[in-house]
Amino acid sequence: MKYLIGLDVGTSAVKALLVTGEGAIVGSFTVEYPFFSPQPGWIEQNPEDMWRASAEAVRGVLDKYSVSPEDVAGLGLSGQMHSSVFLDEKYEVIRPAILWNDVRTTAQCRSIEAAVGMEVLQEEVCNPVLEGFTLPKVVWLKENEPENYAKLSWLVLPKDYVRFRLTGNVAMEVSDAAGMLMMNVRQRVWSRPILDSLDISPDILPPIVGSSEVAGTITAEAAEATGLTPGTPVVGGGADNACGAVGSGVVVAGRGMVSLGTSGVVLAHLAKPKVVTEGTVHMFNSCVPGEFYMMGVTLSAGLSLSWLRSRLGLEDVSYDVMTKAAESVPPGSRGLVFLPYLTGERTPHGDGNARGSFVGLSATHEQGDLIRAVMEGVAFGFCDSVELLRSAGWNGTSLRALGGGARSPLWKKIIASATGLTLDEINIDEGPALGAAILAGVGTGIYGSVREASDAIIKVERSVEPDEEWRKVYTELYQVYKDLYPALKPSFDRLVRFN
Ligand code: XUL
Repeated sequence: MKYLIGLDVGTSAVKALLVTGEGAIVGSFTVEYPFFSPQPGWIEQNPEDMWRASAEAVRGVLDKYSVSPEDVAGLGLSGQMHSSVFLDEKYEVIRPAILWNDVRTTAQCRSIEAAVGMEVLQEEVCNPVLEGFTLPKVVWLKENEPENYAKLSWLVLPKDYVRFRLTGNVAMEVSDAAGMLMMNVRQRVWSRPILDSLDISPDILPPIVGSSEVAGTITAEAAEATGLTPGTPVVGGGADNACGAVGSGVVVAGRGMVSLGTSGVVLAHLAKPKVVTEGTVHMFNSCVPGEFYMMGVTLSAGLSLSWLRSRLGLEDVSYDVMTKAAESVPPGSRGLVFLPYLTGERTPHGDGNARGSFVGLSATHEQGDLIRAVMEGVAFGFCDSVELLRSAGWNGTSLRALGGGARSPLWKKIIASATGLTLDEINIDEGPALGAAILAGVGTGIYGSVREASDAIIKVERSVEPDEEWRKVYTELYQVYKDLYPALKPSFDRLVRFN
């Protein structure tokens, strides 16, 4: 029997997923690691932790399922997008990685827009300039830590760093390269107009490789650390959202997904690139060669619920038990609205100063109301993304639901009712790690193509329809939600200096 491994290098953990060559799930092994917030709005992580956890996760999954390493046909990686791993000329880490949800770079975003010009940005990267993306982090390093910038020889993203540690080859995979704002997404080449305008050397950027292209093989040293056999092929892999799409069958134009992890994403596959000028919609290369996707990102989706859980002292309570308390609360949480901007917001506001808020609190509100209001606030954030994708031309009627939060039947019903879309449940919800394993299968010749494999393995099993009564309440409440950000914006800007 041949096996594939999908390794998802996430924000708080690495998950190694073991899959048979036929696409059946054998099981997974997860190793957690920390991120740090040295200042409000800053979020960092040690790349060495990513590597250590990756090696442990691979070893863990091989041991747990007693798989002989010779039977592993290939490994694919997926990972958190945009997070910068800065390496010196000896490939040593220069400083902690600055993560996708770090919002320190507002000033750099504005200076990039001014230096490069909106027309060139649209033509080259087809995306808005947002705090979380990689280019503003490089400019921040240059301006704030010149001694570190002087050492910068290679810039990679987390999964590409782990691939480097596995294979010894430094490369950037295309779907993640797209999120760096340094690649011409249509031509798949590093953008000279952008790099030249900012006086950034193209030499720091490694060669771009395809998602299902074999980008190296396991070295003897990596074999020692992971338990894999030297010479095992490793493919490029993909950005976690791009791999999530592959792992949920969102590989055909018109299909969409909603992913409810730490961040929340509403994503629609595109056959052709589209320069999206609608607010903060992102448009990146998909793992289907030559195709694309657009998406809106809610920075604190699952994070909002995990934040509430810890602040209510409910860490020992499972999410199932916690969300039970919200089931008996009527839709609208008895007049309580939550804005999920705990770490600023990407879509639709692109605002690092925005902050989370409960509006409408009364002395009668109970724990269950707070929990339900958080779930509804995240759903309203998704409504914002759906609206933007619609105005950019998406006309789908359903979204495939994935991610930890999508295991909650209540949250799915709230999202379906708030957005008015059917939420499809798929047969396997292993998310990005499954997409990464599928890419390894394509790269090693087990499957003919990404689309063929993804469509053969992933099926829609059940659907959650909007509840008409809830929908009426949410339609009204969404208008209240939408009015709150512009009303509170001046206060957010004033509050930020007290952070
Ligand atoms: C997408 C984004 C997040 C991360 C989460 O643009 O920043 O969804 O990829 O890992």
